[in-house]
Amino acid sequence: MQEPSRSAAESDTVSGAALPHQHDTRASGEPLNQPSREKHGLAAGDAAAPPSPDWTIDQGWSSYTEAEHAVWKTLFERQTRLLPELACDAFVQGMRALPLEADRIPDFRRLSNVLMRKTGWQIVAVPGLVPDDVFFDHLANRRFPSGNFIRKPDELDYLEEPDVFHDVFGHVPMLMHPVMADFIQAYGQGGLRAQSLGKLPQLARLYWYTVEFGLVLENGAPRIYGAGIASSFTESRFAVQSPSPNRIGFDLERVMRTNYRIDDFQESYFVLDSLDDLLHLADVDFEPLYQRLGTGPEYAPGMVLPQDRVIQRGDGSYHSARRGENL
Ligand SMILES: [Fe+2]
Repeated sequence: MQEPSRSAAESDTVSGAALPHQHDTRASGEPLNQPSREKHGLAAGDAAAPPSPDWTIDQGWSSYTEAEHAVWKTLFERQTRLLPELACDAFVQGMRALPLEADRIPDFRRLSNVLMRKTGWQIVAVPGLVPDDVFFDHLANRRFPSGNFIRKPDELDYLEEPDVFHDVFGHVPMLMHPVMADFIQAYGQGGLRAQSLGKLPQLARLYWYTVEFGLVLENGAPRIYGAGIASSFTESRFAVQSPSPNRIGFDLERVMRTNYRIDDFQESYFVLDSLDDLLHLADVDFEPLYQRLGTGPEYAPGMVLPQDRVIQRGDGSYHSARRGENL
């Protein structure tokens, strides 16, 4: 079911064969495995299918060890200190309204009680990455699948697959926002259609550059709403404060033609004018768009195009240094 690992050089960019979650390899410099075409996310793990056809399991909250709760505490405290300055208001408000505490990995039942009352979503536990169709079906029914495990204490900034910190801390605050709640449900419905049309790679880019790595303008400045950024200590600062990446006004077709990085920080972030822009995306008829995407260019992650609405042009210094180029 899994594809073999590739080298870091080979895995510089992908065309979006999988629907990714989080990756955070900077601290270790380890390459990520090639994404699977069958599972949602990066195919680093190989958890066996649980007996339930929807892949859900009991969270097993009482089985977490003190060491695992301590990992959550470290991650939680550093992100809650950082994000009020870097994340959008909706994220910060969602984070504060949820029953999230430093000392304990959250109990999904308590989270779901609050989330259900607010936007009708719930969190369900899964053992790791799940097949795309299972993932989309959950989203289409307002169930967000979350890994029930947490990363190891010596791998705080390295993730092989999305864990409970990424899935809960990164994603759930924005699921408290009614627009994001509707958008992700629509994405799940669209994912099932895209799968039947063979267009998942293009749709995956939309998820990547919004739900995972999206920025939104607030008071004229880009702020974080994407879970891949919000759950990463290093990328939170990079995405908002570094002079290196491009920050480009969001355009749907542009995004769906753009490859992304799975092995490092993004070279470009796409910036919404407002979270309400996601509402319009939920109404887009993707079939004619998929037809157009069948022809025409694809763009490398760091490209800036003449027609782009550039908010901040990056100097590319970070990735240049990583490539060993002379500046
Ligand atoms: Fe994710």
